[in-house]
Amino acid sequence: MQKIVITGGAGFIGSHVVRRFVKNYPDYTIINLDKLTYAGNLANLKDIEHLPNYRFVKGDIVDSKFLIDFFVEEQPTAIIHLAAESHVDRSITNPHDFVMTNVLGTVNLLNVARINWEGRADNPRFYHISTDEVYGSLGKDGMFTETTSYDPHSPYSASKASSDHFVRAYHDTYGMNTVISNCSNNYGSFHFPEKLIPLAINNIKQNKPVPVYGKGENVRDWLWVEDHARAIDLIFHKAKAGTTYNIGGHNEWKNIDLIRLLCSILDKKLGRAEGESAKLITFVTDRAGHDLRYAIDATKLKNELGWMPSITFEEGLEKTVDWYLANEEWLTDVTSGHYQQYYNEQYANR
Ligand code: NAD
Ligand code: TYD
Repeated sequence: MQKIVITGGAGFIGSHVVRRFVKNYPDYTIINLDKLTYAGNLANLKDIEHLPNYRFVKGDIVDSKFLIDFFVEEQPTAIIHLAAESHVDRSITNPHDFVMTNVLGTVNLLNVARINWEGRADNPRFYHISTDEVYGSLGKDGMFTETTSYDPHSPYSASKASSDHFVRAYHDTYGMNTVISNCSNNYGSFHFPEKLIPLAINNIKQNKPVPVYGKGENVRDWLWVEDHARAIDLIFHKAKAGTTYNIGGHNEWKNIDLIRLLCSILDKKLGRAEGESAKLITFVTDRAGHDLRYAIDATKLKNELGWMPSITFEEGLEKTVDWYLANEEWLTDVTSGHYQQYYNEQYANR
């Protein structure tokens, strides 16, 4: 009988992981531990919140006193750790929040797990979800493998790199049953519209300028979020302790090409003339320290655990656009209030 704590389960990827585990493993108890920052939204889990094997607990992983009591009370048998500050632009304006949650929060979780699980014969699993951004930036060629040296450039990626090092240190020093996966950029439903794809869909829909940083030459490797959740399920159940897996879609896109594709999809869906939405594309000042290219080599995951992306990018993007058009209320809710202030601060002077 597993009792799994999933941290950050009210966020974008976390909500897909929670949904998958709650639905696929009715005999597991899934506890979603989330602080509900601006990025956490319980509406992401409306369809499964009534299920008997799901519970939500509001809590902050930076608060070690809370975590100690929570562990004593719940006695979890595993952790899947996704809670994080996740947006590079926010990390540039406020790096401190990233150190607190991503570094200190992760160390707090590791500590409380180590103390509670010490000496247990079954050695419970601590699965840390990380990003390809820890590897830094690629030039035109090459891909990140699990042995690529860490070379983070943004406060976000530096904080994630630091947390990855702590997770490995807790395996090597205390023998904890840790696993890490480093995934490329995700896209799909429930993605907060501060990130490129949902921000562009929202702006195109509203006939607002679509900000493209620099010349739009930066390349990202996009993976459908449900394929990431499926990889997490496999790795959680099958990976050996102390291992790392890269997860990616073999799906590299220059930002400008991706935005043009989105414009064209939305022209059709919104009944606009071809080329109408592309007029919204607006080149703005580049992001400081902007990594040029990310690309993941997911061969290890394929060879060892048989994972491959299940859908093409064209299919996934179409599904994603349809979801945003059908879920107007969700989009309106998350873009009201503080979002406007955030948006004005990020984009007013670019
Ligand atoms: P997100 O910003 O959508 O969600 C983060 C969640 O963590 C939110 O629900 C938030 O409320 C919660 N949270 C933040 N601080 C917390 C704290 N102190 N205590 C408890 N909960 C807290 O992020 P996401 O895009 O879903 O990313 C999830 C994880 O996956 C992160 O660790 C991120 O680094 C990693 N990742 C993301 C991507 C991507 O493309 N989005 C790619 C690879 C890896
Ligand atoms: P983002 O979704 O923030 O993910 P990450 O920075 O973690 O890869 O950005 C994806 C790419 O899109 C990145 O190269 C920055 C760029 N970008 C824009 O050009 N305009 C935007 O408004 C945003 C949010 C991002």
